[in-house]
Amino acid sequence: MGRHWRLVIVAIVTTALLGANLSAALDLTDQLVTKEVKGKKVCKMGWACPEFSKFCCNQTIPEFLDVDQFQQLFPNINAPTAHAVGFWDYQSFVLATIKYAPLGFGTTGGKLMGQLELAAFLGHVGSQTSCGYGVATGGPTAWGLCYNKELSPSQKYCDDSYKYTYPCTPGADYYGRGALPIYWNYNYGQIGDALQENLLDHPEYIEQNATLAFQAAIYSWMTPKKKGQPSCHDAFVGNWKPNKNDTLSKRVPGFGVTMNILYGDRTCGQGDVDDMNTIITHYLYYLDEMGVGRERAGPAEVLSCAEQKPFNPSGSASS
Ligand SMILES: *[C@@H]1O[C@H](CO)[C@@H](O)[C@H](O)[C@H]1NC(C)=O
Ligand SMILES: *[C@@H]1O[C@H](CO)[C@@H](O)[C@H](O)[C@H]1NC(C)=O
Ligand SMILES: *[C@@H]1O[C@H](CO)[C@@H](O)[C@H](O)[C@H]1NC(C)=O
Repeated sequence: MGRHWRLVIVAIVTTALLGANLSAALDLTDQLVTKEVKGKKVCKMGWACPEFSKFCCNQTIPEFLDVDQFQQLFPNINAPTAHAVGFWDYQSFVLATIKYAPLGFGTTGGKLMGQLELAAFLGHVGSQTSCGYGVATGGPTAWGLCYNKELSPSQKYCDDSYKYTYPCTPGADYYGRGALPIYWNYNYGQIGDALQENLLDHPEYIEQNATLAFQAAIYSWMTPKKKGQPSCHDAFVGNWKPNKNDTLSKRVPGFGVTMNILYGDRTCGQGDVDDMNTIITHYLYYLDEMGVGRERAGPAEVLSCAEQKPFNPSGSASS
């Protein structure tokens, strides 16, 4: 997509979202364009799902998560004690989803699966960016998107063993930034390649641009960590079929395995630990707030990763 078109889309989205504030629910179905490719139906749905794809034929993200609901999920983004006041907002999230909706993010399997996937994704985001531990009112679940970066990094997160592929730029620090915080030069490098942004030289872009920060997080959700392993998206929506090793390792499709992919043995295979329970709690809370209901999350075997063996045990490179 050219720069000009991107600007046009931003203008249309802004107008549409402001409009959506006034009308109750956004309906893009009058902007549905359908065609057949090799006997299969593909669609474009307005600005929200703008590439021909089978995933653009159903409802799109802004049609089932509006600005009011987003504010309900993240009520303290701009509270005086929040650490990223003025940074995160609904518009930057929705703009970020435009790139991934045609690939199935939030658009796979119909409205309910779309809502479940958004709640799961945001459950990770909320738990990783919450500052509501300890004294804050409402508990951690009311304080998602409170941070956009690590406040007191203890190191530069420069791994010199990647000096030929993703060498650290002098002066750049690769501490945690974003919606699913990115750490280390090699992760900034790889995500930068994927998003065509020079994050290795400019990791600070992630703490300056919320759309980019959300795009990076959705990219991490949509992309397997390693060959032969599922992405969080595929594991969650049921595209992934576990192999024998997965089954022996108690890895089954669902929310639990997304924690396994993202955090490995920091969170999973440790029994019923707080770190894992906090992430699950965010997911369940968002399901309730979105009107889906936590009972849709399924039983403990799919929700938890307490008994799962990690895909990538720590000690083996990159996490
Ligand atoms: C569209 O929605 C229907 C019904 O909810 C669902 O069965 C179908 O899989 C969805 N299409 C795609 C591409 O996910
Ligand atoms: C923020 O990032 C998005 C996505 O890459 C880009 O389209 C937009 O132009 C950026 N905004 C600014 C102010 O640089
Ligand atoms: C099976 O899983 C274990 C633990 O997750 C892993 O260390 C091992 O490499 C896997 N083996 C294969 C063949 O995938």
